[in-house]
Amino acid sequence: MLRGTPAFTAALLLLLTGCAGGGAGSGPSSEGGVGLAKAQLARGEAIYRERCYACHEVESGIGEELSPRVLASYHNARSLYDYIDLSMPHDEPGSLSAEEYWAVTAYLIENRGLARLDAPLAEEVADSVRLSTGSRLEAGE
Ligand code: HEC
Repeated sequence: MLRGTPAFTAALLLLLTGCAGGGAGSGPSSEGGVGLAKAQLARGEAIYRERCYACHEVESGIGEELSPRVLASYHNARSLYDYIDLSMPHDEPGSLSAEEYWAVTAYLIENRGLARLDAPLAEEVADSVRLSTGSRLEAGE
């Protein structure tokens, strides 16, 4: 009974344009996830150099070497993040933002070959990112 009335046509148009708009912009492509992950790693590396390097990467540094084996003992990204968030930098614990802690944790995981990150490391995925020294060996390195 509504068919053919201006109201029906308007409703139909709204519906169609609404769908088209939602469709075009929705769903970050996997490529977008990788791009964001790369940006996070670059940021993490910069933070690591600025805030962690002096103690962990120089011979006279007071922090031990953060080797793959040491880091893998945290088992997953969540517990590594929790430790760093709570205790590091040793001279100023808690002085980074959550975003910075995620970035530096992601950098260490990727740099030491403990897991592959195809999307930025964050709260929602951290439990499922398992850390293993084997991932580098499996890759033939
Ligand atoms: C002022 C020196 C200092 C700075 C800066 C520092 N650390 Fe540390 N870090 C230490 C010391 C000392 C320990 C050992 C702490 C302990 O055993 O209680 C340690 C331990 C650690 C551990 C645990 C290693 C293990 O054996 O389990 C991790 C992971 C870590 N640091 C990461 C970081 C990260 C990431 C940063 C930068 C955000 C950072 N640290 C900055 C001194 C430092």
